[in-house]
Amino acid sequence: MSTPRQLKLGAMVHGVGHGWGEWRHPDAVADASTNFQWYKDQAQLAENAKFDFVFIADSLHIHEKSSPHYLNRFEPLTILSALAATTSKIGLVATVTVSYTEPFQVARQLSSLDHISGGRAGWNIVTSWLSGTADNFSKAEHPPHAVRYRIAKEHVATVKGLWDSWEDDALTRNKQTGEFFDRSKLHTLNHKGEFFQVKGPLNISRSRQGQPVLFQAGTSEDGRNFAAEYSDAIFVHAESFEESKAYYADLKRRAKGFGRNPDTLSILPGIRPIVGRNPEEVEHRYQQAVDLVSIEDAIVALGRPFNDHDFSQYPLDVPFPDLGDLGSNSQKGGSDRIKKQAREHNLTLREVALDFSRPRREFVGTAEQVADQIQHWFENGASDGFIINSLLPDGLKYFTELVIPVLQKRGLQRSEYTGSTLREHFGLEFPVNRYTAARDDQTSLAPSHKAQVSA
Ligand SMILES: Cc1cc2nc3c(=O)[nH]c(=O)nc-3n(C[C@H](O)[C@H](O)[C@H](O)COP(=O)(O)O)c2cc1C
Repeated sequence: MSTPRQLKLGAMVHGVGHGWGEWRHPDAVADASTNFQWYKDQAQLAENAKFDFVFIADSLHIHEKSSPHYLNRFEPLTILSALAATTSKIGLVATVTVSYTEPFQVARQLSSLDHISGGRAGWNIVTSWLSGTADNFSKAEHPPHAVRYRIAKEHVATVKGLWDSWEDDALTRNKQTGEFFDRSKLHTLNHKGEFFQVKGPLNISRSRQGQPVLFQAGTSEDGRNFAAEYSDAIFVHAESFEESKAYYADLKRRAKGFGRNPDTLSILPGIRPIVGRNPEEVEHRYQQAVDLVSIEDAIVALGRPFNDHDFSQYPLDVPFPDLGDLGSNSQKGGSDRIKKQAREHNLTLREVALDFSRPRREFVGTAEQVADQIQHWFENGASDGFIINSLLPDGLKYFTELVIPVLQKRGLQRSEYTGSTLREHFGLEFPVNRYTAARDDQTSLAPSHKAQVSA
């Protein structure tokens, strides 16, 4: 009997927040971005609410105008390794760039997190949009957008190849015979490509979930195709129900085009719910979130998808400036969208900046109202779940205490974990090792072996 479709939920644990002002809220923990206890508490809230995963975002370049969280924060794999020891079920999703790392190192680090956590690791694959990153990694220039996605394809294919270095039963560790591993089940990748030359094998075996779960967030043409081909789950900025629905249909169609079952690809819009116990509290909390965004900060924040472009040089109350192709080599999808919106609705810079940073009215309300909207998106083709982002310091606490019980009552959210790995939470099949599969194909033993390795 198949279980009813349930939401997939991730908690974005993001220190002092996205914007420039959140840390100044009276209840904010001002050093949250490097406060282990704070991360531990947030992960615990999410695990108690039976979320699928916590998510740690990242980037690798700062300057004086970067947001407080960017300026001073934990490295994702390090904080998640620590959280692996303080949690037992929740998935742990780390952002790691492909443009400034080597596949061997990434494969090894994520595999280590996967082992440490008992099969709960996920990889948010990013290509890095800030050109200043090149200056921190001994590179003469930041690779152009299209090249970054070519790098991404080769990088990820190489990492996946390395993750299959060891078949699941390769390490025999037979103390009697002295055989530590079966040599026929250790494989050398010998990858020679456009960007990477990696011989292998990897010096760590596969974990309980076979391979970490892959996440991505492409919105440009190249980004969408990459996500549809490679990822198990996709993050997207939730702009509106209609836009998310169109994005959802487009990504599922593309996944099918790559020969995939579209149900194995989850689309997870990022939302910033503001919840209150009654309409007065909702309004009070919403207003608090609005007050945290000054126009000065909103102008700086708007620069982010445009490679930290300085928008303070333009007048605020005249039509949005013509930026040409600015942004196309950073967050191409996001910056294109902002330019299009400004043009189509004839917006001023002030309007664009405030719209970009101020909390929306969607997903703002009492627990029932927020649950209604979540259910509406989920049941009408706009999402398979959500990334929950908090604007106020107690945002995740409010969401888990008020909205989660409503979702659980409606059967949309689990009340207990039924699996232990992130792959199991997502209902994804165990990925059979490619060499095992090839051997099984030859000897026609696939079904029995598959059962054995997933046990
Ligand atoms: C919810 C969400 C979280 C993201 N987290 C990160 C991140 O941590 N680091 C990063 O470099 N990019 C992050 N991105 C940006 C994407 O990786 C990507 O650059 C962006 O969506 C633009 O898409 P494009 O590359 O197709 O133009 C995130 C995007 C979304 C929607």
